[in-house]
Amino acid sequence: MSHTPGGGGEFTRAVSLPHAPVPAERPMRMPVHRATTYAFDTSQDYADVLAGTREGYSYARIDSPTVDAFADAVAALEGAGLPEPVRGQAFASGMGALSTVFLALTEAGAHVVASRSIYGNTYSLLGTLLRRFGVRTDFVDITDLDAVRAVVGPDTRVVFTETLSNPTMTVSDLPGLAEIAREAGAALVVDSTFASPAVCRPLEHGADVVVHSATKYIGGHSDTTGGVAVAGPALTERIRSARVDLGTCLAPDEAYLLHRGLETLPLRVQRQCESAAAFAAALEGHPLVERVDHPSLASHPQADLAGKLFDRDRYGAVVTVHPRGGREAGMAFADRLRVATIAASLGGTHTLAGHVASTSHRNMSGDELAAAGISPGAVRFSIGLEDPRDLVEDALAALGGER
Ligand SMILES: Cc1ncc(COP(=O)(O)O)c(C=O)c1O
Repeated sequence: MSHTPGGGGEFTRAVSLPHAPVPAERPMRMPVHRATTYAFDTSQDYADVLAGTREGYSYARIDSPTVDAFADAVAALEGAGLPEPVRGQAFASGMGALSTVFLALTEAGAHVVASRSIYGNTYSLLGTLLRRFGVRTDFVDITDLDAVRAVVGPDTRVVFTETLSNPTMTVSDLPGLAEIAREAGAALVVDSTFASPAVCRPLEHGADVVVHSATKYIGGHSDTTGGVAVAGPALTERIRSARVDLGTCLAPDEAYLLHRGLETLPLRVQRQCESAAAFAAALEGHPLVERVDHPSLASHPQADLAGKLFDRDRYGAVVTVHPRGGREAGMAFADRLRVATIAASLGGTHTLAGHVASTSHRNMSGDELAAAGISPGAVRFSIGLEDPRDLVEDALAALGGER
């Protein structure tokens, strides 16, 4: 940037003040580039960057350095085991990432096959909003590969699932779904929010696009909203172009916080997964508990699949407890917790709990809840960083009605 040294009027000087120099020593923290616009020496340089014939930044909705650094960092984690490089794109939220990916990969008349048990807003995005624009979605039991095969057709553009589904922690057979998608000429898009790259990297199992709500484990501290999508070069270009048109990009300050979150992701997630497994094992078999959902338990329907797809001893850190006694018993159980806090979301440092039927899944009828394996009293725990013994004692005391 050019400055007006010494001279010029008061107002010109005010807007031309020197910037912090780029230090010769490497700063140990990544700088935050908040600029929305970038200066060029010549019109030709500006034109070349816009045309893509020269690397560079012009406008923050298109690209910006701090946001790119975060997206590339997630791509490095998700693509760690791949022979070819993958690229990341960062978004203002998980829903920003999902809506942009679906809009990038479909058109009027396109067909999507999606898991029946996905995050509520993704369900309404596909089932209601995109339907208005001529994108038709069939929701199926994603654990039944024959059911998936039965609905794919020539118009199928996307097969969509979540690595681990909410709240029953159902595990998707990613290699099986990848094969079906490949045969149909469709993309397998996987929302891996509940797993994070510290548990599973869907691209290594055949997925074409992996999406995260970075608001959860990636940020890790319940203080930043963001999303990210990682894919190979061709799909990345389509997703990037849709992101630029839709304006769903992440902001630099949020990118800084999410990038910082990545540094402790393996540490946090390893600890959270270990605590979740201990918590699930301690509550399973309790006389007041009907069932506990966690893939670390041998009783979990996809325990073997989880063992194949997930990093050793990491089965995710969400545990759903189904207490006996129905809806009232479940709500009272949640209300009696003292270490875990009743709150939405997951993936942060604190253990959060929520009665499923009255909160996250309140729009489902009794029959729909039963079909999805969600008991009227189910309480979902997002296990945090507390001492696992404190979490178990808290849950046992709350179950026993001691408070
Ligand atoms: C699995 C899953 N995907 C996507 C989202 C949406 O993420 P965000 O709230 O960052 O838009 C959520 C939010 O809870 C989620 O749980």
